[in-house]
Amino acid sequence: MNSYKKVYGQWKQNPQQFWAEAASEINWDRTWDQVLYDKEAPLYRWYKGAKTNTCYNALDRHIEAGHGDRTALIYDSAMTGTVEKFTYQELADRTAKFAGILQDLGVGKGDRVLIYMPMIPESIMAMLACARIGAVHAVVFGGFAAAELSKRIVDAEPKVIISATCGLEPGKIIPYKPLLDEAIENAGVETKTVIVARPECSAEMMPARDYDWHDLMDKAERLAPCISLEATDPLYILYTSGTTGTPKGIVRDNGGHLVAMNWSMKNVYNMNPGDVYWAASDIGWVVGHSYIVYGPLIRGCTTILYEGKPVGTPDAGAFWRVISDHKVNALFVAPTAIRAIKREDPNAEHIKKYDLTAFRTLFLAGERADPDTVKWSEDILGVPVIDHWWQTETAWSICANFMGIEHLPVKYGSPSKPSPGFDVRILSDEGEEVAPGMLGNIVVKEPLPPGAMLTVWRDDERCINTYFKEFEGYYLTGDAGHKDEDGYFYIMGRTDDVINVAGHRLSTGAMEEVLSTLPEVAECAVVGVVDDLKGQQPFGFLVLKSGCARAGEDIVSDAIASIRKEIGAVASFKNAVIVKRLPKTRSGKILRRVMASIAAKTPYTVPATLDDPDILDEIEQALFS
Ligand code: COA
Ligand code: AMP
Repeated sequence: MNSYKKVYGQWKQNPQQFWAEAASEINWDRTWDQVLYDKEAPLYRWYKGAKTNTCYNALDRHIEAGHGDRTALIYDSAMTGTVEKFTYQELADRTAKFAGILQDLGVGKGDRVLIYMPMIPESIMAMLACARIGAVHAVVFGGFAAAELSKRIVDAEPKVIISATCGLEPGKIIPYKPLLDEAIENAGVETKTVIVARPECSAEMMPARDYDWHDLMDKAERLAPCISLEATDPLYILYTSGTTGTPKGIVRDNGGHLVAMNWSMKNVYNMNPGDVYWAASDIGWVVGHSYIVYGPLIRGCTTILYEGKPVGTPDAGAFWRVISDHKVNALFVAPTAIRAIKREDPNAEHIKKYDLTAFRTLFLAGERADPDTVKWSEDILGVPVIDHWWQTETAWSICANFMGIEHLPVKYGSPSKPSPGFDVRILSDEGEEVAPGMLGNIVVKEPLPPGAMLTVWRDDERCINTYFKEFEGYYLTGDAGHKDEDGYFYIMGRTDDVINVAGHRLSTGAMEEVLSTLPEVAECAVVGVVDDLKGQQPFGFLVLKSGCARAGEDIVSDAIASIRKEIGAVASFKNAVIVKRLPKTRSGKILRRVMASIAAKTPYTVPATLDDPDILDEIEQALFS
C-alpha cells in the first residue's frame, strides 16, 4: 500500500518521471518529445510534441475497450422530474454527430465555440463535440446576465454560440434566448447560434443566424471522427473573476489536463472505471468542467448531471435521493449546499428514507469548509468527509486528502496536504517563508503541474503580471493562509477583491464598476461580508454626489437592480447603504476589510494609517441605526 509521504516524495524526487508515468494511462497518438517544456517559463508546457484527443480519451477509447454499454451519463433533473441515461456508445454517437454539425457550420480546429447553457445533456455533448474537432469551448455560467455574457463573447470571438431556450430555477423559468440576443447585439459580432428548444419555453428564432439543435441532429447523418491534436493545443477557455471587471479567460491544454483529470480521479477521489461519481456543481464553473464532464468520463466512470438545488427541489432530501437512486459512490459539493440542507433538516430526517449503502465519500470544495459543516456531514453520513482546495486556474486540487492513496487524519478547517505537483509555501509580503502557524500569502513554486492553466486567453502578459510577478519563481494563488507543524494547510480567505458567494467566485471590483455608473454615485466600495449560509455576501457602500436630491432608498434599489441586470442574479447583491465617506488610508486605499468586519459585527483593528478615525463610527451608524 502506498503512503501519501511516499507518493509525494516520488514526485518531489523526479517530477518529470512521475508525470511521465501518470501519462501512461492516457491514449496518445504520438508520445512527447519533452515531459516539461520550460523555455517560456513561467508559461510552462506539458507533454510537448505529443498528440492526442480529449474526446477520444473520454469516450471512444472506453467503447473500443468493450465498455460501450456502460452508463456514461445520468441526467437527473429535479426541476422537471426527468431521468435520462446515456451509455458511452450513445453519448459518443450524439457527440460525434454534433461535432459534424459544428464542422458543417464552419467550425474548425482552434475556433472558439461559446456555450451558454443550463444543466442538460446537450451541454456535455456540445463540450465534448468541441474537444473532438479541436474547437476551443468557452462555457459561460447560465446565471450571468447579458452584459457579462457580452464581455465574454467579445473576448472569445466565437464562431458559434450554443444555448437553450431557457434555464430552470425553482419557481421560475429563465428565458436564455433574449439574454443571448442582447449579448450578441451588444458585442457587435457576427456569429451563428444553435439553440436547444426546451419544452418549458419557446424562443423567437432569427432565420439567418439561429439553428435549432433538434432539427440539426435529426437531419445529420455524419459522425465526425476525433482529430489528433497537439497535447499543448487549447481545449477550453474558462472565464473567471479577478480584481477588475474584465474577466480572465483561463486557458487549458489537452495533454496535461487529460493526465491531471485521470490522476486526480484515481488518487484524490479513489474512483475507478464503472464507479458512479457526482459533482453537484454547474458546467459553467471549473468544478463542472473537471468533475462533471472530463474527469469522470476520462476515468471511465458514470457521471451525474443534476439539474436542481440541494433544498426546495422538492426538499432537503434531494441529494440523498439522487445518491440512492443512482448508487452514487462519491459526491462533491460546495459547503454552502450542505449548510442549506442542515438549516432545513438539522436532524437529517430525510436521509432515513434512502439507501446510501453505495456511498463512500463526501468531498467539499469551492469555499472554506467550516468545521461544523464537516462534522455534521460526518455524523449524518458516516463516511469520510474530505475538504480539498483548488481554483479555476489549477483545474484540480492543490491540497487534498488522497482517498486513492492514503486517508490522512482529518484536521478540521484544513484541506490537508499538497497534491504531488504542488510545492506550496506561505510567504510574507516581503517574500520570506514564514514560520508554521503564521498567516501569509499562499504560493506554489513553479512550475505548476499538468492540468494547470496555460495562460490567460490572448494575454500572456496579464497572466504573468497577475500570477507570477509578485513573488519571483512562485505562482500567486490569491489566497491567504497558514501551515501547521505537520504540513497541513489552512486557507483563510482571498488577498484580492475576489469574494466567494455560495461557492461562486465573484469580483467586487466588477460590482464597483457597475455601481459607479449610477448617476448619483460619486464613490463606492463592495465588500464580502460573512454569511452563515453562503459563506460570504456582497455588501455595497455608496457615497453620493453632493446635491443629490433623490431618496436614499431609491438609489439603493437602483444599485441592487443594476448589479442584477449587469452581472446577474448569481451575484446575490441584496444589501447596500449610503455613507458620507469611505474609510481610507492616508495614501487613499479604501479599507474594505475593516468595512466587511463592521458589517459582519466581527472584531477588527483600526489601522494606524486610517486618515480619519471618526469615519468608522459613521459607517456603523449607517449600517445599524
Ligand atoms: N441561471 C439563472 N439564474 C441562476 C442560476 C442559473 N444557472 N443559478 C443561480 N441563479 C439565480 C437564482 O435563481 C437566484 O436568483 P434570485 O435572487 O432571483 O432568487 C440567484 O441566482 C442566487 O442563486 P443561488 O446562489 O443558487 O442562491 P439561492 O439562494 O437560490 O440558493 C443555495 C441557495 C445554497 C441552495 C444555493 O446557493 C446552492 O445550491 N449552492 C451551492 C452552490 C454550488 O454548488 N456551487 C458550486 C461551486 S463549486
Ligand atoms: P474557483 O476558481 O471558482 O474554484 O474559486 C477558487 C477560490 O475558492 C480559491 O482561491 C479559494 O479562495 C476558494 N476555495 C476553493 N476551495 C476552497 C477550500 N477547500 N477552502 C477554502 N477556500 C477554498
